[in-house]
Amino acid sequence: MNELIEKAKDFGNKLYYSVFRHRFDNTGLTKSKIMFSNVLLHIQPVKIHKRSIKFKTSMGLGLITFYLFLILCVTGVILMFHYVPSTAIGPDGLPDAYSRMLNLRSNVFWGGFLRNMHRWAAHGMVAFVALHMLRVYLAGAHRGGREFNWVVGCILGLLTVFLSYTGYLLPWDQLAFWGVKVGTEIAKLAPGGALIRGVLLGDTDVGSEALIRFYVLHVAVLPAVMGFLIAVHFFRIRKDGGLARPADTSNEKQIPDEEFGEVKNNSVFKTARSYKLVEIVKGNEPKVNEETDQMMFAWPKLIIREIIVLAAVMFFMSLISVLFDAPLEGPADPNHPTNPAKAPWYFLGLQELTSYDGFIGGIVLPGLMAGGVMFLPYIEIFLESFNKTFRKNIPGVWFARERILENSLFISLYLVMAALIIIGVYFRGANWAIEYPWVQTISGGGH
Ligand code: HEM
Repeated sequence: MNELIEKAKDFGNKLYYSVFRHRFDNTGLTKSKIMFSNVLLHIQPVKIHKRSIKFKTSMGLGLITFYLFLILCVTGVILMFHYVPSTAIGPDGLPDAYSRMLNLRSNVFWGGFLRNMHRWAAHGMVAFVALHMLRVYLAGAHRGGREFNWVVGCILGLLTVFLSYTGYLLPWDQLAFWGVKVGTEIAKLAPGGALIRGVLLGDTDVGSEALIRFYVLHVAVLPAVMGFLIAVHFFRIRKDGGLARPADTSNEKQIPDEEFGEVKNNSVFKTARSYKLVEIVKGNEPKVNEETDQMMFAWPKLIIREIIVLAAVMFFMSLISVLFDAPLEGPADPNHPTNPAKAPWYFLGLQELTSYDGFIGGIVLPGLMAGGVMFLPYIEIFLESFNKTFRKNIPGVWFARERILENSLFISLYLVMAALIIIGVYFRGANWAIEYPWVQTISGGGH
């Protein structure tokens, strides 16, 4: 009997180690192994600077953006089981795509909730990517070797908006049809814009070809490209030395010794030289340029924080999705424009600008803004090279005094865009005339 128990224990151990390859004790070695032997965790470093887990460093904004992207992928795949990107009129006299939306709301178990979650996460991702970018800039985290990752981030930001915009058409209701029509009309004003518009719509106007193209971009091309770029973005954060921090933090409080766990060599890789490196604990680091007394294990503190943020995001998204239904207006009717026809809210700043001057407001200013922001770190470096007394490269310092001009300009840009969006959403009525929100009677989109 005892032999049987021993054998069962032995088998249980083998089974356990075939999956985990480590225990969950408090040694530095185990904390390292947990991080690099798990496919989901190993993209993160074994050790991080203690500043990285502080709320004020990143406010978790990039992480929240990433979680919203994951929510979009999961809910999007489930929605795909039901949705059909067709404008053909079905037996109920409605376009297939639209009637699937109605069905989702009324006949599919939790269908409405799923659609709400997908819609609100899409809007949320656009908002959070903008907030993440603002925090990166105001903390000077776009400099100090992170310039390229800033550019990767900007491309991700543009793709986020495009992802949301391509999804906007899919319900094929009045909101979708006229929202997308307005957006693509703006594109027509740009040099070569008519060509891009033609390629995007596959026709001279928004119709069945546009729906299928937007669908393919939305469900396959953009998520795949973004998934790849997010991996590049995360990889670069590690290679750029983790989250931005002031050049010297050695005068800050050190990590107490007990944080490092018990040091003992119980490696299963005792003979393998390369693995010996990761057994290194405090004061014996293989890396250079890291203040060892400020470095801590990512397990468990960082991972716990990440799980808490995920739980909070899931909770709030679920709450919003239970409380508020995603809009769905009447089926798309190309002969009856809504008045006003508004683009989605994130394009309403542009739409507002185009109402003053189509070319300058719709193309020149946004082009300058997008290009200027994308290459901002390089523009700064170039300008600094003329005057060596400027010291603008101060990564990881919020609202650095030396960067007061840059930060003020960047905040102003956000405030102007926010004001234009608020005017577009709440103060524009029929024929784009100024109207107070409380007297507006017609819903023309903008959400
Ligand atoms: C899909 C969009 C994006 C995702 C999922 C994403 C995700 C992240 C995450 C998780 C971090 C780690 C810090 C944090 O949680 O805030 C980060 C850092 C960073 N992101 Fe993004 N990001 C996105 C877009 C952007 C954009 C639009 C920019 C700027 C234009 C940007 C620039 C950066 C930079 C420079 C860092 C390093 C910051 C530092 O060292 O403190 N990212 N990003």
